[in-house]
Amino acid sequence: MKITSSIRDTEMQVTAYEKSWMDGVVYKYDDKCYTPIEHVAAIINMCRKVNGNILEIGSNTGVTARNLAMNFRDRIVYAVDYIGRNRTMCPDQSDENPELEVFKDCEDEPNVVCLHAKGESIRYDALVEVGAIFIDGGHTFEEVKADTMNALRFFRTKGGLILWHDCHQDETWSGVHRYVSKTHPEAKLIEETSVAYLFIQGSWLDSKHPQ
Ligand SMILES: C[S@@+](CC[C@H](N)C(=O)[O-])C[C@H]1O[C@@H](n2cnc3c(N)ncnc32)[C@H](O)[C@@H]1O
Repeated sequence: MKITSSIRDTEMQVTAYEKSWMDGVVYKYDDKCYTPIEHVAAIINMCRKVNGNILEIGSNTGVTARNLAMNFRDRIVYAVDYIGRNRTMCPDQSDENPELEVFKDCEDEPNVVCLHAKGESIRYDALVEVGAIFIDGGHTFEEVKADTMNALRFFRTKGGLILWHDCHQDETWSGVHRYVSKTHPEAKLIEETSVAYLFIQGSWLDSKHPQ
């Protein structure tokens, strides 16, 4: 998997986040957040390269969903997560059950749609013009594969952007890197992050799509 230097392009988005905060948008960001702010900025930066709404699979309390919503007021952010005992995640994710806190950080954003569902049961035909899918739900090889296969099927004719989080080369707990590097060697890892991405060619992606 190639490493890109896109993290450098993200400085602007970090500034945008700080500005939103300074403008009075109350935004909680602390050690409990699963996705470091630099990674969130990298995700936002990548989403700027495509048109369309954004789907996040595995939103937890909704920190990243909220950042996406604040940065793309003209887009819908679909936030997906679920609560309940029937959890199939890898053992190191066992403390990630959001329980009563699910979506608490994003549910008040006017452009966020919260969907209580597992990644594998998302009704893709009910989603409107999604151009980017951020996969951060179940991290086992099989779960990442299932979410990615659905995303690929969804983007088959229109095209779009797939992003994965926790694509750590050196971590054994997560199946993300194993799946992505094995199945999509053309995907790129954003330097200094564990965010990987892949553009899917299709008719709907516009000129923003970097060739
Ligand atoms: C690392 S947290 C997500 C953090 C969030 N993306 C963020 O940036 O703030 C992973 C989440 O995925 C959810 N999850 C695990 N398996 C899932 C599945 N099969 N479908 C949907 N969500 C899932 C967990 O409940 C957990 O809240």
